[in-house]
Amino acid sequence: MSTASAKLLAGEDFASDDDLVNDWPSGANQRLENEDASVVPPVRLRLASSKPNRKRQRLHRISSCTAFVFASMACFLGIFLGLLLVLAANEKCNTQLHNDSSISVAEKRVKNISSECPTYPWPELRLPTSVEPVKYTLTIRPNLTTFVSTGNVDIDLNINSRTDLIVLHAHGLNVTSYQITVDGTHINAQKENCEFLGQLAFKLSNAVNQGEKVQLSIRFVGQVSDDLVGLYKNTHYSSDGSKSYSAVTQFEPTDARKMFPCFDEPAFKAVFQVSIERERRHTSKANMALQKTDIVDGQIEVDHFAPSVKMSTYLVAIAVFDFANVTEMTKHTTHPIRVSIHANQDMIKGKADLALETAIKGLEYLETFFKVPFPLEKQDLLALDDFAEGAMENWGLITFRDSLLLYDQNRSTTRSKEMIATVVVHELAHQWFGNLVTMKWWNDLWLNEGFANFIEYFVTDRIFPDWKLMDQFYVENLLPGLFLDGMTTSHAISVPVHDPAEIGGIFDAISYQKGASIIRMFMGLSGEEPFKLGLQEYLEHYKYQNAEGSDLWEILQKHIPSMGDVSLIDVATAWTTQVGYPLVQARLENSGTTLVIFNQTRFLSLIDERTDDRMAHKWPIPIIYKTDSTMQSKTVWMKGNNGRNLNVILPTPAKWVIANADGSGFYRVLYDQAIYHELAKQLKLDHTALSAVDRAAVLYDAFSFVKSGHLRLETLMNLLAYLESGKETDRAPWVVVLGQLRQIEDLIEDPDMIDTFQAYERRLVAATYSNLGWELTESHSDRQLQAEMVAFVCRLELQDCVQSALIRFSDWLVDNSS
Ligand code: BES
Ligand code: ZN
Repeated sequence: MSTASAKLLAGEDFASDDDLVNDWPSGANQRLENEDASVVPPVRLRLASSKPNRKRQRLHRISSCTAFVFASMACFLGIFLGLLLVLAANEKCNTQLHNDSSISVAEKRVKNISSECPTYPWPELRLPTSVEPVKYTLTIRPNLTTFVSTGNVDIDLNINSRTDLIVLHAHGLNVTSYQITVDGTHINAQKENCEFLGQLAFKLSNAVNQGEKVQLSIRFVGQVSDDLVGLYKNTHYSSDGSKSYSAVTQFEPTDARKMFPCFDEPAFKAVFQVSIERERRHTSKANMALQKTDIVDGQIEVDHFAPSVKMSTYLVAIAVFDFANVTEMTKHTTHPIRVSIHANQDMIKGKADLALETAIKGLEYLETFFKVPFPLEKQDLLALDDFAEGAMENWGLITFRDSLLLYDQNRSTTRSKEMIATVVVHELAHQWFGNLVTMKWWNDLWLNEGFANFIEYFVTDRIFPDWKLMDQFYVENLLPGLFLDGMTTSHAISVPVHDPAEIGGIFDAISYQKGASIIRMFMGLSGEEPFKLGLQEYLEHYKYQNAEGSDLWEILQKHIPSMGDVSLIDVATAWTTQVGYPLVQARLENSGTTLVIFNQTRFLSLIDERTDDRMAHKWPIPIIYKTDSTMQSKTVWMKGNNGRNLNVILPTPAKWVIANADGSGFYRVLYDQAIYHELAKQLKLDHTALSAVDRAAVLYDAFSFVKSGHLRLETLMNLLAYLESGKETDRAPWVVVLGQLRQIEDLIEDPDMIDTFQAYERRLVAATYSNLGWELTESHSDRQLQAEMVAFVCRLELQDCVQSALIRFSDWLVDNSS
C-alpha cells in the first residue's frame, strides 16, 4: 500500500495528488486524467438487458470476470483501483449476458418460420395493414375452479385494400369455431395458425374489397394461466391460511393475444365492448364502467361493460375477484371521476388512503396540466398479490403489486410512501401519455415510459411539494441512465425492435431513466410554460391516435422556436437517435476569466471499448454553467459540428465552475486538476456553495471517472473528504456515495482488506450518522436518508448503531405495533 493511500484510509491528512501517480496498477487503468485513447472493436448496437425499473433495480452479481481481475491485484491501492476496474468489467459481463449473438432475435425467428410453420401464408412478424379492426365485441368466461377460459369475439373489420387474407394474433388459444361475413353474407375461409409466430390467418375463398364491411367471429378456449401474463391467476393467502383466487390480465407489451384473438399491435386501435361471465360471489371489472348485469342462472352472472374509447390492445384489461374497495369522487375535474382502490379484504383496511388521495389529486392535476379531460367515468386501482411488474396503466383499470399501492401509516417506510405516490402518478400520467396518444410502434416506447417517468416526479412534486422530489431526480434517473448508457451494450432511446422478446428487452433504464432525463433537459431549456403548451397541443392533435417522436418534436418546436441558435428538432433528434452521451472536459484559463469546454466524445466506462468511432458521435450540448462568483446558471451551446473547443468569457474571475448545473444535461463533465482541487476545498469550507444535486453529480462523475480510468483515485478521495465533518445531510450526495462505496465493498473478498475499507467507510459516515440520529424527523427526505444511513452504518457494525437497533428490536418484540 502506498503511504498516501494508507494515510487516507487511516484518516491522516491528504498529501498532494502528485504523490500518488505511481500507485496506479500496471495495465489499462494506468491512464491518467484527461487521457482517453484506446483501440478496440467497433461499437455494435446491442440491446441493453438490465431490468428496467428503478423501483426494483437488479443487483449485479459477481461473476467469474471478477475473480480473474481480483487475482491480479497486489497492494491495497492496487486492489482498490482494481476493484473499480472489476466493477466496470463486472458491469460489462452483466450487461452482455443476453447479447452474445450477432443475429437478432427477430431475424432468427423469421429464418425459422418456414420450418416451424411450412404452410403458413404470412411469414412475417408484423401484421399486414390491408385489414384493420374497428370494434371488438368480446365475451370472456374465466373459470376460477377449472382455470379454463372460454370466449367468443366478433371483430368488425375495415378493409383498407383488396385482399384474400386476414391475419391477426392468437397465442396458446384453441379456436373451436369461426365465421366470416361480408356485408352480412357468410364467406368460406380456411384457417391456418402459426403458434411459433403467435398468429392466426384466414385465407378467404374470395377476395374482399376496400370499403366492404367484414365481420370475423371466433370462439376459442384458453386458460387462466400461472405465468403472470395474458389472463392469469392471482392467489391470495389469508391470515387464517385459506386461499382465494382471482383472474386478472397483464397484456403489455404483446400478451393480449394470449387471452383473445386480436390485432395485437399498438397502432391497431379499436373500440372494445367487453362482457364477463363470472360466479355470483365474484365482482368483475374492465376498462370501462359497468352497464348492466344479466343473471344466467342462480350462481352465474354476466357483466356488460360500456364500449371503450378507441384504444390499443395492450391496454385492455379485465379482472374477476372478491376484493373490498374504498371509493371517492374527484371534485376538480371536468366531470366527476369515480376513483376506487380494490384489494383483498384483509389487506385494504386503513391502507388505501394514500393511494386514493394521490389518485384524486393526480387526476385533477394532470387534467388541468394536459388540458384534455379524462374520458372515462371511473378509474379503478387494483392491488394484486401476484404481479410481474410494479404497476400497469390499463385504461381505467390500473393494476399494482400490493406493496406499491397499500400504505400502512404505522408500519410502512417513508420510501414506500414515496414509491406508492410516484407509481400512482406514473400510471395516471400514462392515461394521457400512452393511452390517449400511443406510440406507433414499440421503437418509441420511451415516449410512453420516459414521459411517465418524468411526470411522476414533476407532478408528485406539485402534489406533495414538501417531499422535494425533484431533488431526487438526479440520483434516481440520471445516475442509472448514465450508468447503463456508458456501456457499448446500450441502445439509442428510439430503437428498432421487431420480436416480442426484443420489445420486452427495452423496458430498461434507457427508455425510462434516460428518457425522463432528456425530457427534463428539454423542459429546462425551453421553460415550463412553452413546453406545457406544446404537450397540450400534441395530446389534443393526436388523441385516440398514434404518434412517433418526430410528431412531438414538430409540435414542441412551434412553441419553442429557438433555444439559443439551435432548433429543438435538431437537439431532440441527436439525443434520441444516438446511443450514449457525451463526456466533456472543462478548465479555467486566463486567471479564471475564461471557461474552456473541450473534447466532446462519447463516454464509455471501459477503456477497451473506446474506439475512434466514438468521436463520430456528436451532440448539441447545452453547457449550463455556474461558478463560485456567479451562482445564477447560464447556458451556452457546444454544437456537434463547429469545432471542439468552446471558450466562454466569464464576467468575474472564477476559482471553480460547475459545467452541468443541477445535473440538467444528460452528460458527464471531467474537470481539470485545478478545478477539482478548488471544488474539494470549497466542499470542506462550505459545501452548500454547491447545490445538493451539484454535489451529487460531481461525486458520481468522479466515481465513474475513476472506474473508467479518467481520474486518479486520490482526486476522488480528496472530494469525499468533506463528508467526514458530518455537515453533509442532503440525501442526493449520500445516495451516490453510499451506493458507490457499497458496490466497491461488495467486490472485496480478502477479509483484511474488508476491515481496512470498512474503517475508511466508517470514517466518512460516522459524523453524519450521529447528526442524523434515530429520532423521527419531520422532513420527508431526511427520514429517508436516516433509514439509508442507519442501514449502512449498522452493516458496518458501528457500536452505537448496533446497540440502538437492538434496543428497538427488543421494544418491537414486546409491542409489535411499534
Ligand atoms: N407500462 C409499464 C408496465 C410494464 C413494464 C409492462 C414492463 C410491461 C413490461 C408501467 O407503466 C411501468 O412503467 N411500471 C413500472 C413501475 C413504474 C412506476 C416505474 C414497473 O412495473 O416497473
Ligand atoms: Zn410506465
